[in-house]
Amino acid sequence: MNFELKSLSQRSVSESKLDALVVVLTADFHSDQSVLGQLIQKVLDSKELSDKGASLNFWHPAGLKIKHLLLVQAEQAQPEQLKTAMQSAVSWAKKLKVSDVHVVMPKVGAQGWSAALQSASDATYLYQATKPSAESIKLKRLILCVSAIKEAQAHFDRAYARVLGTQLAREWGNRPANHATPTLLGKAAQELAKFPNIRCEVMGPKEVERLKMGSFMSVAQGSVEPLRFIVLKYKSRAVKSDAAPVVLVGKGITFDTGGISLKPGAGMDEMKFDMCGAASVLGTFRALAQLQPAINVIGLIPTCENMPSGNAIKPGDVVTSMSGQTIEILNTDAEGRLILCDALTYAKRFKAKAVIDIATLTGACVIALGHVRTGMFSSDDALADQLLKAGEDWQDLCWRMPLDEEYAEGLKSNFADVANVADRSGGAITAAKFLHRFSKDFPWAHLDIAGTAWKSGASKGATGRPVGLLLGYLLSQAKGGSGKNKK
Ligand code: BES
Ligand code: MN
Ligand code: ZN
Repeated sequence: MNFELKSLSQRSVSESKLDALVVVLTADFHSDQSVLGQLIQKVLDSKELSDKGASLNFWHPAGLKIKHLLLVQAEQAQPEQLKTAMQSAVSWAKKLKVSDVHVVMPKVGAQGWSAALQSASDATYLYQATKPSAESIKLKRLILCVSAIKEAQAHFDRAYARVLGTQLAREWGNRPANHATPTLLGKAAQELAKFPNIRCEVMGPKEVERLKMGSFMSVAQGSVEPLRFIVLKYKSRAVKSDAAPVVLVGKGITFDTGGISLKPGAGMDEMKFDMCGAASVLGTFRALAQLQPAINVIGLIPTCENMPSGNAIKPGDVVTSMSGQTIEILNTDAEGRLILCDALTYAKRFKAKAVIDIATLTGACVIALGHVRTGMFSSDDALADQLLKAGEDWQDLCWRMPLDEEYAEGLKSNFADVANVADRSGGAITAAKFLHRFSKDFPWAHLDIAGTAWKSGASKGATGRPVGLLLGYLLSQAKGGSGKNKK
C-alpha cells in the first residue's frame, strides 16, 4: 500500500469531495467552525465516542461532499491507541472496498507516526508470491492529512521507510524454501543495489572456499543448492567514506531440516523462516535506500540450506573456521552459529563501530522470552542500551540477556577448540557464548529473533521484525540523527 502525506486543514477537508475519510480523534482534538468540525463537536459532546477505541461511521453526512466518514477514538494518542485506531480504519476501508482513504491525523511524535503507519501496513499486507488467488485488497492509498506538514514530514519519512523495509523482510521470510533459495536471496540483494549509494557483491562456493570459511561450508555441503555469501554496502555521501560502519550479519538458512541430527516432522515447514535474520538485513537496506541517512552500513548474509544427505556433516565431525579455531559439530541442528561465526570473522576487516548479528538461533530463546521481546546479548553496555532504547522508541522490543563466562563451560571439547553445543540448560545463552568467541575484536550484539520473526497458527507468517529496531538503532547513530530533509 502507498502512503502519502498531505497538508490539509480541517476546513479544507470539510469542503473536499472524498470517497472515504477517517478522522482520528484524541483528547486534545480542537474542532473548528466548518461543517465537519461542527459534526465532530456534536459527537464529542454526546460522549458517544468516549469508550476506548470506539468508532462511529456515517454515510453521506449532511452538508459534506464525503461519501463515507469514520470517526475513531485514539484518546491520548499513545502508540497502542493509534495502532488500534488505524486497524479499525483499515478494516472499515477494506469492507467498503474503496481504493483511497484520507485520514486526518492528530498531532503525534515519531513513535506515534511509526505505530500508525506500521499497523496500517501490517493490516493491508497480502502474500501473493505463491498464492495468486489470494483475495485482493482494493485499498491502495492512505493519504494522511495534517495541518502542520513541516513538523510531520520527517516523522512520516522515517515511518514510511520502516514500513517498506518491514514489508520486504516479511515477504522474503514468507516465501517457501523452494522460492527463496540462497541464489534467489543473492538476487534480491542485487536488486537493492539499484538504489543510490548501495552496492552489492554476491560470492559463491569458490570465493567462500578461498576465504577459508570451513565452518559455513560444512553446513552447506549436505545440500545441492549452492551457498551464497552476500555483502551489501550502504555508503552515505554525507559522511566520510572511511567512517567506521555498523555491520549487520543476518542468518540465512533458507531451510533447516536439522541435517543428520534431523528435526521431528511436526511443524518442520516453519523452518523456511530460518532466514528471517537475512531478510531483516535486506529489509533494513531497503529502508536505508529510502531514507538515505548519514551513516555507513555493511550487511553480511551467509546463506545456505541445512540438509541431511550422503555429503552432510555428521555429529562428531571437526571443521576449521575462518578464524582458525576448530569446531566439533556435536549436533548438526546447531547450524546457525556455524555459518554466523565465519561471517563474524569476516566482519573484522571493516573496523566497525558495532557488529550486530540477527538470527533465528535457538528454540530456547522462545522458551525464555516468548514472542514479545527479541533476545539481545551484547559485549558492550553502550550498544546494549542503544538497542534497548531503539526497540522501545520503535515498538520493536528486545531484552538483554547475560554473557557470563561460566555459561561457556559446556562448550568445551576434547577434540576441538570448541563444541557447537552444550547441554540443554540456558540454550539461548550458550549459543550466544559460542558466537562471542568470534566477536572479541569489536563492540558486538547478537539478536536472537527465534520467537519474534514469525507467527505460528492461523496467522502463520513472517513479522518483518526486527527491521524497526535495526533502523531505529541506525538512525540514532547517524550524523544529524535522521535521514532525508536533514543534511
Ligand atoms: N533454527 C533453529 C532454531 C529455532 C527452532 C528457531 C525452533 C525457532 C523455532 C536452530 O538452527 C536450531 O535448530 N537450534 C537448536 C539448537 C540445539 C540443537 C542446541 C534448537 O534450538 O533446538
Ligand atoms: Mn537448526
Ligand atoms: Zn536453524
